[in-house]
Amino acid sequence: MDEITHRPRRLRRTPALRRLVSETSVTTADLVAPLFVAEGIDAPRPIDSLPGHAQHTLDSLVAEAGRLLGLGITSVVLFGVPSDKDADGSGASDPDGIVQVALRRLAHEYGDALVRIPDLCLDEYTDHGHCGVLTGEGTVDNDATLVRYQEAAVAQAAAGANLVAPSGMMDGQVGAIRSALDAAGHLDVGILAYSAKYASALYGPFRDAVDVEIVGGGDRRAYQQDPANRREALLEVALDVEQGADIVMVKPAVTYLDVIADVAAAVDVPVAAYHVSGEYSMIKAAAERGWIDGTATAVEQLTAVKRAGADLILTYFAGELAPILDA
Ligand code: PBG
Repeated sequence: MDEITHRPRRLRRTPALRRLVSETSVTTADLVAPLFVAEGIDAPRPIDSLPGHAQHTLDSLVAEAGRLLGLGITSVVLFGVPSDKDADGSGASDPDGIVQVALRRLAHEYGDALVRIPDLCLDEYTDHGHCGVLTGEGTVDNDATLVRYQEAAVAQAAAGANLVAPSGMMDGQVGAIRSALDAAGHLDVGILAYSAKYASALYGPFRDAVDVEIVGGGDRRAYQQDPANRREALLEVALDVEQGADIVMVKPAVTYLDVIADVAAAVDVPVAAYHVSGEYSMIKAAAERGWIDGTATAVEQLTAVKRAGADLILTYFAGELAPILDA
């Protein structure tokens, strides 16, 4: 071979060289840990489809957040599992609803050391399992749902949220929530918007985790995005940024790397990606059978998500990987 031919392998020879020229790294600072807190239980309940995760009691939630902080994971996204559900999803905005109580506990225990991000949606709280309130015909009523999101946002902010994370994919949700937060004096509470959220089959384990079943075997295709569409994500993101989103998110992550890259190129706000329950469970299940190295696969996937352009990643691997990642 000619002397001046480029030989890329030179830079791959040793770990120190590879580290020097690495374009992307996943660090604990990039990761947000999803946590579940359930009302009316006395002991944490392991979630079968999300090995290593549980529905927490208030006490075990506080302990888990403390453990994560010790590992350098300083942000959590919170999901509530109420003991009672109703048509309006009242628990989502009740000051004594499980997530609001949990936020107050976490704020009291950890203050500004912990970034508290409640998921803002109705599906965990509605008896029909949809992300909004229903019309007489049983479809999700967009604008009536916005009012419920406003109430939930104000309740979450009052309880100690740093960012609220609307995940219901209603049109106009970011603007409605921003104006309600401002009107209630919560100017410092930001919005992490699930902007490009696809109607994915990969949310299955999550629905077990929060005991959600959609009435009549229904689905969310009438409000979440069609996996076939790429350009539409840019419209969703542009609308959210225009309405005041502080961070925009793409969800799921690995099957939507093209969308993450497009969004990262299009916006000036931070871009988040949600490595969802099914993405976690697939790795766990294959690793359990000895078919893949779970840790290596997880790191490779999260690296790909960052390489595509995500600044931060919500992932069930946060706590598990923290000890082997840089800060
Ligand atoms: C809705 C919500 C969902 C997830 C996060 N927020 C479920 C859904 O839209 O059906 C999924 C997260 C995951 O699968 O890890 N509140």
